[in-house]
Amino acid sequence: MQSKDRTAIIDHFEGLLSEHGASHKTLGFGRPESQLRRFEMLAQVGDLDGSSVLDVFCGLADMYDFLRANHLNVDYQGVEVVPAFVRHIRKARPQIKVEVGDFLEDSFQGEWDYVFASGIFYRRVSDSRELMQRSIAKMFRLCRKAVAFNSLSGYADRREADEFLASPEDTFAFCKTLTPYVTLRHDYMPHDFTVYMYKR
Ligand SMILES: C[S@@+](CC[C@H](N)C(=O)[O-])C[C@H]1O[C@@H](n2cnc3c(N)ncnc32)[C@H](O)[C@@H]1O
Repeated sequence: MQSKDRTAIIDHFEGLLSEHGASHKTLGFGRPESQLRRFEMLAQVGDLDGSSVLDVFCGLADMYDFLRANHLNVDYQGVEVVPAFVRHIRKARPQIKVEVGDFLEDSFQGEWDYVFASGIFYRRVSDSRELMQRSIAKMFRLCRKAVAFNSLSGYADRREADEFLASPEDTFAFCKTLTPYVTLRHDYMPHDFTVYMYKR
């Protein structure tokens, strides 16, 4: 991510955290259900029980709570670029493994069974499409089994000026260059899609 975009993302979300505290509003979700619905879709990528999971740009690590609430025993790790989010997680739930930083930096490496990303592309940055593709490619490199991510869709019937709406077809075609095993789901919300990418 370009440094001006990184600064803008950090300022945006730190402002929302000061205003709303640990709330779906801070993460930009209109309703708690829309965050939850996206987690439900991501979790359907495979049998997660007993696996290791990386949550890319984990926000306030709400996915950790979702996985536990659904009795999924996973070795969870989050990575998040907004320092105040990471401080909040460490204070409120010190048992959660979370790293502060930009997932795309070369220094961020590792290997996980599943790599997830929810809601991480929605604010428009200088090079949103390229950044999305670089993120997908890195997520796929770091996973042993599968990647699951979502994005706002170009099929949305309205768009805000500061939002990035990805083309599901274009995203699917890009993912197919990385693996033959790709699932595109656009059947759960009119303005959002989820992609699963498998190693085999
Ligand atoms: C909508 S929040 C979602 C957080 C978490 N994944 C969840 O679902 O609860 C988006 C997160 O992605 C990070 N992010 C990085 N690039 C972003 C971008 N271009 N647009 C929106 N969020 C971005 C933010 O720091 C933020 O924590």
